This record gives sequence, structure tokens and C-alpha cells, in this order.
Amino acid sequence: MSQKPRIDETTEDLACPVIYPVEAYISEEYARAERDKLWRKVWQMVGRLEDIPEVGNYLSYEILDDSVLIVRTAPDQIRAYHNVCPHRGRRLVDVPQGAKNARGRRSQFICGYHGWRFNLEGANTHAPYKEDWQGALSDECAGLSKVDVDTWGGWIWINMDRDCEPLRDFLEPAATMLDPFQLQNMRSRWRKWGIFDCNWKVALEAFNETYHVQTTHPEFMKFGEFRGWARVQGKHSNIGYDAPKGMDENQSAKLRVGKGDPRISTAEMQLYTWQKANTNTTQTLVDAALRLKDELPEGTPADQVLKHWLESARRDDEARGVVWPTVDPAHVGRSGTAWQIFPNFQIGHSVNNALCYTARPCGYNPDKCIFEAVVYQLFPQGEEPQPEWEYCEATAEDWCYVLSQDFSNMAAVQQGMKSLGLSGLKPNPYMERSTANLHRNLAKYMGTGAPRKLE
Ligand code: FES
Ligand SMILES: [Fe+2]
Repeated sequence: MSQKPRIDETTEDLACPVIYPVEAYISEEYARAERDKLWRKVWQMVGRLEDIPEVGNYLSYEILDDSVLIVRTAPDQIRAYHNVCPHRGRRLVDVPQGAKNARGRRSQFICGYHGWRFNLEGANTHAPYKEDWQGALSDECAGLSKVDVDTWGGWIWINMDRDCEPLRDFLEPAATMLDPFQLQNMRSRWRKWGIFDCNWKVALEAFNETYHVQTTHPEFMKFGEFRGWARVQGKHSNIGYDAPKGMDENQSAKLRVGKGDPRISTAEMQLYTWQKANTNTTQTLVDAALRLKDELPEGTPADQVLKHWLESARRDDEARGVVWPTVDPAHVGRSGTAWQIFPNFQIGHSVNNALCYTARPCGYNPDKCIFEAVVYQLFPQGEEPQPEWEYCEATAEDWCYVLSQDFSNMAAVQQGMKSLGLSGLKPNPYMERSTANLHRNLAKYMGTGAPRKLE
């Protein structure tokens, strides 16, 4: 007698078709519940270590009603506090009008209301007329309220849940899979943010699968077609490309073999990516690709073109002091091209550059989110740029053509989700499993919205 499997079992690896409701994207009630059930429970990436290089450097991180201050308290130590004065609750550090967050350097924090002072360790060092409290102001109740903070990959992460699991445990298996890429050595080349007209999940899901490429970015199809996969990695997911046998999976996707002369298609695709996406490649890779037709004879097989291109770019970079980590090709293949770190951080990794996105709520309006994107790469020591965060509208002019193609779906998806005619969302079981997994894991925190088998 066959017993019907429980939903959890049928969808364990999410290889089967699933459907899940739209509530997570459009319900204001759900958006409000996210504060306590999700954002106050998970590790969140809040910035880079190089943002606070000196003792006393701080930055704030804003998420709904919470603001967290992250402070370098010693050359090798970072602390985080709730950005609130314990006296009568004034926000301790103000975010400048129009800025994404606060940033600066202080030797102490002084509340602007009645002048309570706090050292970098969060201890109260002065309260005017403190004796009026008759000794009741203990260190505990007069100091700043602590937030857990840790680092991985060159990023700073915070968790407001004092009982949270260690960051490393939370990040696995992503941390172990990504460690060989030495992301902590990369520095940002540009960083932009904006307020978009969609839920934060809609913004992230525009980038966590490759199924949309054929339609949203038709220009890429002339370079060849590749089949993308998405895999469940516990709380997290990763995506990558299937490749012809014997070829390095993800790198060959960049090469896009299959259409025309691979020397030419590689150069064309690199140039297009550099000029129209301004990410996912570097000047060194582009230059090396443009030389392929001079350095290799016509008819060179695609795998040889790929090998030559990457070896010569690696050499060029080494000559200027930029050393790419060496990662076993099988590991590169397994790691894919991007990781979705639960709940809202995507790392598009490679050995010499990376593209990362975050999206989070902008107030309790489920139709708005704060979107951020940063492009990283390796630089010669001492030549790292320090780009400021740039506020940008969701346009091709402010960002670039390829990203604006992705943005163009976002508000339309947000509107479409409210239609009476939509029964639920049905991600591709092979190429969009990352989206199904996000919602399966969200449901564990939120208690609602789990994907169910589509039959
Ligand atoms: S609220 Fe900060 S000193 Fe009074
Ligand atoms: Fe895209």
C-alpha cells in the first residue's frame, strides 16, 4: 500500500515541479511579520571590512525599524550595537538625509539629546547628573545594546538574535565552497544602490537564475546557448552552467562555444559584457580576449581558445601584481557562477572578479525595496579604488544596459503578482530551483508560504 509522502519529503531536493503563493511578495501583513520572524533572526551582510579600516571607523546598517552601528574597536576587532541611546531612546547616530547609511570615524559616541557618552566598546562613560539615578544606572542598563557581528569573505555580517548560530555554520556549505576564490582580497570597482518599485524578493530573483537570459537578454544568445542549473545548498542555493563534455563548465559558458569562430565570439562577448554590463569581466580579460585572433590560428578548437585566453589573462595580471587564486577546475564547476546566501545576498564569484547584490525591504510597503549592487575585482596593492555608494534610478543611464534589462521586469512582476488570474508561482524545477529553495526556507522562518508539489 503506498503512502502519500509528506510535502517536505516530496520537495526535499526541489527537483519536482512546485507551486507557492504570492503572499510573500505582496502582503503587507507578511512584510510586517518579516521584521521579527526573519530580519531579527538571520545573519545579514552589512558592509566590507575595508569600509572601516581604522579604529573608530563606523558604519550603520538600516533594516526596517532597526539601525545597527558597526564599529572597529581595535585593529583586529569589530563590535556592533543597536543604534539607540539607552537613556530615552534617541537614535545615537543619524543617517544623513538621502544617504544609504551613516559612516565616519569617532573616538566616542555622544547622544545629541542629553549628552550621554559611550566609548567604542559601547560602555557608558558619562551621563550628566548621573548621581540623580542614585546608583541605579548599572553598566548593563546604561551601555549600548550589543548585536552579534562576525566577518567572512571580507564582508561584515550582523545578527540581532543573541541566540543565533555562529556565522560560519549559518553560511555553510557556501563558505567552504567559496573560500578558494579568496573574495576577501577583492575590492569594489563600483557600488550603486537604489529604491526599486518591487518587493525585495522580486529584485533578487531577477538575478538568481539563468532561465531569463534567452528572453530578457536576447543579445547574449548570438554568442551561443548554454543550459543553466540551480541547486539546493541547505538554506542557500547556487547556480551555474552545464557545459559540453570535457570543458570547464562555467568558464566555457563565458566562451559560449557553438556559434562561429570561438576566438571571435569570445572577444565579442567579452567586449559586449564589459561595455554593456560593466561587470562579470575585467579589463585584463577583455584585452586578452581581443588578442585571441592574432595569437591563435583559425580553426583552434574552443577548449584551446578558452585555455589560452585564461592563461594569458592570468599572466598579464600577474605581471602587474594581481595574482588570481588557483582553484581546481572541478571545484570551479561545482561552485557554479553565483551563490544565493539566505535570505538576501547573492555572490557572483570567480577567481578575479565578483558581482554581488542585496535587496531588503524599504519600510513596510511590500512594493518597495532597497537594492544594492557591487562589482569587485583584484587590484594591484595600493591601487585599489574606493568608490562611494552612488544613488541610482533603475535606468540604463544610471546603471548599464544589461542590468536595466533585468530591472525592466521588476515593477511589472510586482504588479502582475496582484492579479486575480495568478494561481501561484511555478519556478522551473531545474533552472530556477534557487527561487523555490528561497521560499521553502523563508517558509521555515515565516511559518507560511512553503512550496507545494505541482500536480
Ligand atoms: S536620549 Fe540620549 S542622552 Fe537622552
Ligand atoms: Fe539578467
